[in-house]
Amino acid sequence: MKIIIQRYCTHRKPNPSIEVEYKLPLKNPTLLEALDFIKTNFDQTLTYSSGCRSEVCGSCSVKVNGKEKLSCGYKVQDGDVITPLSKLDIIKDLVVESDASFITLVKTRSFLEKSKSIKQTKEDEKLIEKQSDCILCNSCFSSCPVLEVNKDFLGPFALTRVLRYINDKRCEDEKQKIDLIQKNGIWDCTLCGECTIVCPQNIDPKMDILNLRAKSAKYGYMDPNFGVGDFGTLSF
Ligand code: SF4
Ligand code: SF4
Ligand code: FES
Repeated sequence: MKIIIQRYCTHRKPNPSIEVEYKLPLKNPTLLEALDFIKTNFDQTLTYSSGCRSEVCGSCSVKVNGKEKLSCGYKVQDGDVITPLSKLDIIKDLVVESDASFITLVKTRSFLEKSKSIKQTKEDEKLIEKQSDCILCNSCFSSCPVLEVNKDFLGPFALTRVLRYINDKRCEDEKQKIDLIQKNGIWDCTLCGECTIVCPQNIDPKMDILNLRAKSAKYGYMDPNFGVGDFGTLSF
C-alpha cells in the first residue's frame, strides 16, 4: 500500500510544499498508525498532531483525498492523498495553527457567561447533549466554503456552540449571544451542509444555524439579504 503526504516546511525553498509518496508494509492501519510508522522508520521530521488516539480529543484532523477525517479513526486506503486542514495556516507538514478558528469562540462568547444557579433535569441536558459533543477538531471549519471568501465568518462550530449555550436553561444572556452572531454569522452561511457531512461527532451545524435564525427572528432579526436595517433588525 502507498500513500502520498503533502509535506510543508517554510525552510524549503523555493517551494515549501511538496508531495512525498511512502510505501507501507502494514495491514489495515489507521492513518495515525501509518503516520507513526513513517515517522519511526522513514523520516523522523514528519510532523502531525495527535493526542487520545481514540477519536475523542479532536487534535488529529487532516484531509484525506480532500475530505476532513480524524487520523486515529480513518483506515488508510491504497493511494490516499493526505493534506493538512484548509482555512488555517500550516505550521509544518500536517500541523495547522488553530488560533484563527478558536478565536471565533471568544468572538461569539460561546460559554456560560451569565448564568442562573438552577438544577438541570435530564430533559434539560438532552437539549444541549448533541452540541456538547463537539471535540473542536476543526473539520467543519476546514470544509466551510464561506471561509474561503470571508475570513471573518464565525464558522460552523462556534455557531453550533452558541446554540448549545442558548439552549442551556442556566443561560441568562441569550439576547447578547444572539446579537453577536448577526454580522458575519448565521445569515452568511449558505446552508451548503459541508460542515454536517464532515463532522465526526454527527453534529449538524447547518441545522443549528437554521435554529439560530429562527431564534433570532424572536428578537426582530431577519436575513439582511432582504435589505431590512443594518443587520436586518425590524423595528415596530
Ligand atoms: S452549512 Fe454554512 S457553516 Fe456549514 S459549511 Fe456550509 S456555509 Fe459553512
Ligand atoms: S462541530 Fe463537529 S466537525 Fe466541527 S469542530 Fe465540532 S466535532 Fe469537529
Ligand atoms: S488523536 Fe484524539 S481524536 Fe485522534
